[in-house]
Formats: sequence, structure tokens, C-alpha cells
Amino acid sequence: MKSRDNKYTVITGSSSGIGYATAIAFAKRDKNLIVIARRKEKLEALKQEIASINANVEVVIKVCDLSSATNAHSLFDDLENYFIETWINNAGFGHYGSVKDQDLDKIETMLHLNIEALTILSTRYVSKYQNEPGTQIINISSRGGYIIVPNAVTYCATKFYVNAFTEGLAHELKQAKAKLVAKILAPAATETEFGHVANNTFKYDYKKQFNQFHTADQMAGFLIALYDSDKTIGEISTKDFSFSLKDGVLPYSDNPLQNQKS
Ligand SMILES: NC(=O)c1ccc[n+]([C@@H]2O[C@H](COP(=O)([O-])OP(=O)(O)OC[C@H]3O[C@@H](n4cnc5c(N)ncnc54)[C@H](OP(=O)(O)O)[C@@H]3O)[C@@H](O)[C@H]2O)c1
Repeated sequence: MKSRDNKYTVITGSSSGIGYATAIAFAKRDKNLIVIARRKEKLEALKQEIASINANVEVVIKVCDLSSATNAHSLFDDLENYFIETWINNAGFGHYGSVKDQDLDKIETMLHLNIEALTILSTRYVSKYQNEPGTQIINISSRGGYIIVPNAVTYCATKFYVNAFTEGLAHELKQAKAKLVAKILAPAATETEFGHVANNTFKYDYKKQFNQFHTADQMAGFLIALYDSDKTIGEISTKDFSFSLKDGVLPYSDNPLQNQKS
């Protein structure tokens, strides 16, 4: 591992939307970055933009398709020599349509990315960093991970998983008195490429679809507020689109007698 003075923030899915804006927000705070996505040219554009904002920040580009478990493991192995202060699992996508009509190729890729890669990368990060002071893992979920939205059942189910996994992890780390903390950002509608990808369309106009939505820059600001706080969840209200910081909201049994671990 490199010197702890030389710290990095990892952001998966940083070639567009919330991840791109978050990379810029962390660069403004003098954080070195490791930016990850499939589209190399978008990551290079991000690196250039950051160089014009804060030339002191190092930006490492890793091109990786995280819908493959093998790639997720190789990516983590490849980062062995960096000291990673913060890990943000942001890469993810959605799908709109009824379950009976859903394209299983797309759905299987979504399950691999939203659930499998996030679990592999979280587990490997926690195993290596749980006793390192000042470390955080932030998983990007969705308001759709607390309430099931019509026409997005499977996507919501992936985000229910992200919420349950990450809140559970946060409890586990607190009980183990670990130095690492786990957090969740749960956005609602945010103007990014999400709408295009989820609807398999090139044209998607957030202004026509929603009365209210956030920009990616606003969402990155909320993520920074979560990062700075000692709360577990940063959540957007679907009623008035306000942002609030909370402790865990899911029911949790801290009674070990309620499971079957030997
Ligand atoms: N926008 C919203 O309304 C909204 C609401 C709630 C939650 N969210 C969540 O916010 C997160 C960020 O989404 P966004 O809104 O910023 O959408 P976005 O603009 O489409 O960004 C998604 C990012 O994920 C990357 N990605 C997609 N497939 C990938 C793969 N197989 N391997 C590696 N990277 C991959 C994309 O990069 P490449 O295509 O270059 O790989 C891109 O950088 C997602 O987890 C999403 O579920 C979004």
C-alpha cells in the first residue's frame, strides 16, 4: 500500500451524471481520484476538466465493465497499491417496463452491476480497510430502494438490496467498532443519462417528465453533505424533493439469537 498521505477517492460510474459531478466536487476538495467506467473518452474529458479546476489533484483512469464479477475482482486487485480513503459505488442503471415484458439480457446485466459488483467491491474494500481511520464507503441507492415504483419493479428491487446490504453493513461496522463507516445516498429523479438508459431511448427530457428533479451537481452537493456528516443515509423526499440526513431506517435485529449462526 502506498503512503497514507497519498490518499484516493474511488468513484465507479464517473463518466457521466452523479458520478461525474461527484468527481468534480471531490477534486475541489483536493482529493485524488480513481475514476471508473466503460467509456474512456468521457473519463479523459473528466480528467481534463479537473485539471483546469484543480491542477494539484491526481486523476487515475480505470476503464472497466463492472457487469462482470471477474472484472470487479481484477479492478480491486489492480488498485492494491493505492491507499483508498473513500470508495463510492455509484455505477448503476435502471429499466422501465413491466416484469412480464422485461428484456432479460438487460435485466441480468443490471443485476450484475447494481447488486453483484457493488457487493464484491464493498466486501473487498471492507475486508482491507475496516480498521483504517477516516475511511468511508458510500453506496448510491435510490428513493426507489425504499418505495416500489410502478414500471420499475426489478430496478427498485436492486436498490432495496443496496439499502438492506449497506444499512446492515453500517450496523456491523459500528458493532465491531471499525474505523470504516458505511453510508447510503438515495437520490430521486436527477437529470443524468439515467432516463435515456432506463427507457432505451436517445431522447429523454427531465423537464417534461418531472415537475421537480435535481441536477447532478446538486446531487453531488448532497453526497458531500453526507460524506461530511456522521449520519448513515442521505435521502431525497419524493414529496417535496428536500434532502435530509438520517440514521438507519430499516428494521434491524441486533439480537444474535434471532439467526442460526453456529
Ligand atoms: N438519475 C436518477 O434519477 C437516479 C435516481 C436514483 C438513483 N440513481 C442512481 O444513481 C447512480 C448514478 O446514475 P446516474 O443517474 O448518474 O446515471 P448515468 O448518467 O447513466 O451514470 C451511470 C454511470 O454508470 C456507469 N456504468 C453503467 N454501466 C456500467 C458498467 N457495466 N460498468 C461500469 N460502469 C458502468 C456509466 O458509465 P459508462 O456507460 O461509461 O460505463 C455512468 O458513468 C446509479 O446507481 C443510479 O441507479 C439515479
